[in-house]
Amino acid sequence: TQELRIALAGLGTVGTGVVRLLEENADEIRARAGRDIRITAVSARDRTRDRGIDIASYAWEDEMAQLAARSDVDVVVELVGGSDGPALALARGALEGGKHLVTANKAMIAHHGAELAAQAEQAGVSLQFEAAVAGGIPVLKGLREGAAANRVERVYGILNGTSNYILSAMEKTGRDFTDILADAQELGYAEADPTFDIEGVDAAHKLAILAAIAFGTRPDFGAVETGGISGVRAADIAQADALGYVIRLIGMTDCAAGEDGKPRLFQRVQPYLVPKSHPLAAVDGPTNAVVVEGNFAGRLLFQGAGAGDGPTASAVVADLVDIARGNPAAPFGLPVASLASSSPADTAER
Ligand code: HSE
Repeated sequence: TQELRIALAGLGTVGTGVVRLLEENADEIRARAGRDIRITAVSARDRTRDRGIDIASYAWEDEMAQLAARSDVDVVVELVGGSDGPALALARGALEGGKHLVTANKAMIAHHGAELAAQAEQAGVSLQFEAAVAGGIPVLKGLREGAAANRVERVYGILNGTSNYILSAMEKTGRDFTDILADAQELGYAEADPTFDIEGVDAAHKLAILAAIAFGTRPDFGAVETGGISGVRAADIAQADALGYVIRLIGMTDCAAGEDGKPRLFQRVQPYLVPKSHPLAAVDGPTNAVVVEGNFAGRLLFQGAGAGDGPTASAVVADLVDIARGNPAAPFGLPVASLASSSPADTAER
């Protein structure tokens, strides 16, 4: 079998991790994928920056979009970020050109996931984005494949490592929010725009993707009720503690019949009081944890590192292994035409 040839767009933390992982674990990957997975071309903002990896053997494209046009590429890996702009242009270009697309871009999938999935279907290629939700935790594969036989009742969890780091550090130190944010940024967990972390937007992107897979709907980021942690004070945490709770930023989704009997998709991100006896209360630091409740599987807990180069690269390369094997699942678990619209009015028409 021929090798699977990769074009990598973006050589930041995650991109560098992907390069290192493909090299360091080449034997394991070859054995499991059934063939070599090899980077042929890369593009990033700065060609010369020292990243601690050797990129001299890869072709270089100054124009990222050109990666999609190369004839020596089977899969485009997009690690640039941003819901629109160059990332979306590259994604569309790749699928149009009949190339598989792997991305860690939660904002792009939350906003344009259904459109991109439809494009991939038409082109007969794969779209995969395990790394977009909860970094190294294989929660999309767990939900889509592991829980495939279930009626999913609820999905909820800690979806933003930065907020969780801040809340748990406030808990331990009694310090206030702003100086701890600076620590999280230094440790490399925070998004380029940290308001996305703090105001719940990053968690809302991930929740919209989880909800779509859990309930067979088109991702609908605009319908996520979103709140963050910037209003949480040290005094709130102390008060919660006295009552037997911790405060966690939780994303929660379910899909229950409304008063009219029609299904209503509920998606919300906000700080919740979590009883100290609940498994999510013990999750501290930059960790993510997601609970999936299925009607036959019961309560499943997925926990691990939700960010960082190693864990996120692990999820990206797992998607590449799926593609190399030739049988990746439909990105939202159903053909796009079968995905319901999440808005009640449209759902009602079905
Ligand atoms: N800024 C995100 C977090 C990184 O803190 O969880 C992964 O999406």
